[in-house]
Amino acid sequence: MPGNIFGSIFRVTTFGESHGHSIGGVIDGCPAGVRLDLNIIQKDLNRRRPGQSAIVTQRKEPDKVTFFSGIFEGKTTGTPIGFAINNTDQKSKDYSHIQDNYRPSHADYVYDEKYGFRDYRGGGRSSARETASRVVAGAIAKQFLSPITIDAYVSAVGSLKLKTNPSEVDLSKIEENIVRCPDPQMASEMEDLIKKIRKNGDTVGGIITCVIKNVPAGLGEPVFNKLHAELGKAMLSINAVKGFEYGSGFEGIQKKGSEHNDLFNSDGSTKTNYSGGIQGGISNGMDIYFNVAFKPVATIMQNQPTINSKGEEVQMQGKGRHDPCVVPRAVPIVEAMAALVLADFTLIKRTNKA
Ligand SMILES: Cc1cc2nc3c(=O)[nH]c(=O)nc-3n(C[C@H](O)[C@H](O)[C@H](O)COP(=O)(O)O)c2cc1C
Repeated sequence: MPGNIFGSIFRVTTFGESHGHSIGGVIDGCPAGVRLDLNIIQKDLNRRRPGQSAIVTQRKEPDKVTFFSGIFEGKTTGTPIGFAINNTDQKSKDYSHIQDNYRPSHADYVYDEKYGFRDYRGGGRSSARETASRVVAGAIAKQFLSPITIDAYVSAVGSLKLKTNPSEVDLSKIEENIVRCPDPQMASEMEDLIKKIRKNGDTVGGIITCVIKNVPAGLGEPVFNKLHAELGKAMLSINAVKGFEYGSGFEGIQKKGSEHNDLFNSDGSTKTNYSGGIQGGISNGMDIYFNVAFKPVATIMQNQPTINSKGEEVQMQGKGRHDPCVVPRAVPIVEAMAALVLADFTLIKRTNKA
């Protein structure tokens, strides 16, 4: 199965299935001499970890990462960084019901159609467990990128939507609640909604907003590898993502050009930032911001009609431990994928001028 490698210079390969021995990856192309704080990497993994709060899946995984290579005396050596996270709390029995039956809107049917065979345990490779490896790679990319900062937060759950402009959000408040919404009142409403949805055996979607600061101008390549195109690909590669918009996004079409143009200051910065920090596919030095929409995930604890591998109609109810709403756990995944894109373009930028 090709398609497990991301990036062109700063490249990450991930491996592993939800209920296999372990998941992990290899990072190739990370420059030598990057000082790494391994606690920061573990902290990001803990933000993605299952079982971290009452509103996420109760699978209990310590998600402890082990590094095998590429780091010496606290710094990257420029050689491949190999790492793995063991799976310890698999309950594969919980998934025997999807061996032959297809969960509506999950990946069971398409994997069978494509490969004729699938590791159904916990969803196998289609499980978002794979994203833990992205978080490890992204946490390394973030440290390479310093002083660029990347912060994501939950800005919507179902119809509950945070109205605050990303430039006015107090990013220091994101980790103060289990939803990861920086507005405490809104976070509490979102938490109540997620709990209600879970009680009904259902799921709910949401939006994650990401803000990237201290970005130099000049990241991104014309024509096909525009910065926003690569960010879009990175975000849309995350499980359950349905939409990506940057800057003024879809709502921007309501403005006229005279209202929407970002007028310059004499230093090249702009008075407004409808462009979301990207013009012509290249960063302009302003903050980058974008939204990522996640669907209400497929596995629900309610009876639904579906089909089995013989095409027969069957009734099916989700089993096992699942997320009623994935956005609280997806925040570090969005940050990680953004960091991988920026790390790649930072290295590519070094080839731009003589
Ligand atoms: C952090 C995270 C956790 C997820 N947890 C679940 C889950 O518990 N149950 C589920 O059915 N899908 C879950 N998903 C989504 C599935 O992995 C995804 O819907 C599935 O692979 C099909 O892919 P698609 O929705 O992108 O088409 C999760 C996604 C993310 C990002």
